[in-house]
Amino acid sequence: MSHLLVLHGPNLNLLGSREPDVYGVETLKDINESLKKQAENLGHQLTTLQSNAEHELVDKIQAAPQAGVDFIIINPAALTHTSIAIRDAFSAVNIPFIEIHISNVFQRESFRHHSFLSDIAQSVICGCGTYGYQLALLGANNHLTNLSS
Ligand code: DQA
Repeated sequence: MSHLLVLHGPNLNLLGSREPDVYGVETLKDINESLKKQAENLGHQLTTLQSNAEHELVDKIQAAPQAGVDFIIINPAALTHTSIAIRDAFSAVNIPFIEIHISNVFQRESFRHHSFLSDIAQSVICGCGTYGYQLALLGANNHLTNLSS
């Protein structure tokens, strides 16, 4: 059994009501519940955190090795485009992670085209809607299964 951590950045607590034409109608609760079920079916433990505060996400990443986290899935939201602190936290802990975006950021404003994380992420998923979270979990499972075989 592996331990997966799913991190959601600023404003993702508003999923469901926030710009539904861009982000869909699924709520964060819906997403977290279905990820937990999917992880259980794959034999993994999954914990989640949403925060609007950059330092809380940094703290969680820093604490991940001690918490026994094997893999992280993160939608850093707007912090994708601004946060060297989150990048440095990932480099410090050296835990593999997948960066996911609900929308196709490359079809949007040019300030969303740059990510401070993509080049150190194991994979990047974007533009698949909230289904991207399920894809990320399958990607994480594939990585963890290959590691243990
Ligand atoms: C997002 C894309 C970001 O540019 C934006 O700031 C978000 C959500 C996405 O999931 O598509 O808050 O990460």
